Amino acid sequence: MTNTSHLNATSEKPVIQLREASANYGGLRILHDINMTVMPGETLAILGRNGAGKTTLLHALFNMGPTLSGTIEIKGQTISHWPTYRIARLGMALVPQGRGVFQTLAVHESLRLATLAKTSRDKALWSLERIYNEFPRLFERRHSSCAALSGGERQMLALARALLTQPDIIVLDEPSEGLAPLTIDDMLVGKLRFLASEGITLVLAEQNVSMALKVASRAIVLSAGHIVFDGSPQALLDDSALHQQHLGI
Ligand SMILES: Nc1ncnc2c1ncn2[C@@H]1O[C@H](COP(=O)(O)OP(=O)(O)O)[C@@H](O)[C@H]1O
Ligand SMILES: [Mg+2]
Repeated sequence: MTNTSHLNATSEKPVIQLREASANYGGLRILHDINMTVMPGETLAILGRNGAGKTTLLHALFNMGPTLSGTIEIKGQTISHWPTYRIARLGMALVPQGRGVFQTLAVHESLRLATLAKTSRDKALWSLERIYNEFPRLFERRHSSCAALSGGERQMLALARALLTQPDIIVLDEPSEGLAPLTIDDMLVGKLRFLASEGITLVLAEQNVSMALKVASRAIVLSAGHIVFDGSPQALLDDSALHQQHLGI
């Protein structure tokens, strides 16, 4: 059972479902027959070494790049041939690897731009005011250039921009990459736990296993484009052989 136990379990439908999904770049198969389900409110960690296929899997969810086969459903809609913007409007936001923040804008401008995106909801849950309340550091830095932000601040900005599109699913690609250990513990883990407590479904690709397992309710391990584990964080921690074979450096 996940932290969605307050919901009626019988009425729950997956928000993300992949059946025999494969992804190719050119003629090269990167992901092989992926079966994966994400329930509303889950925090799913997708773990694996560099090159395992984590980013390709996240991009497949948004039909961003790889050629797809099999079935990928987001909120019950088969999205394989949809353009990325239309998938995002289902209420799913991507925080890309490297954070995808415009360098030349001021923080406030960058956030205001994000509020202009067309969303799936009539009523905005996340206003600029609420963002500044939850991310006081961004309020302090609102007149700074995005290029002047620290790595942690930039990750917070990327998260805030995602929230302003009013998503109920946020997909994050290696959010801890390049951050100092203290920043990961103080800032990132806390914010991700907060978002999960707000009921947002999180899908988190990470090489940083210990960080990811601090927030995840479930974990998947990818190895050379195959799922080699799908289960609880505790079961993964207990499986030291799998840990060494597929996650060790
Ligand atoms: N645009 C692309 N064109 C061709 N091959 C790619 C492309 N993107 C990724 N790959 C290949 O797919 C494999 C998985 O990469 P990726 O999904 O980025 O892994 P990860 O995010 O787990 O580090 C790697 O072998 C990589 O070289
Ligand atoms: Mg990657």
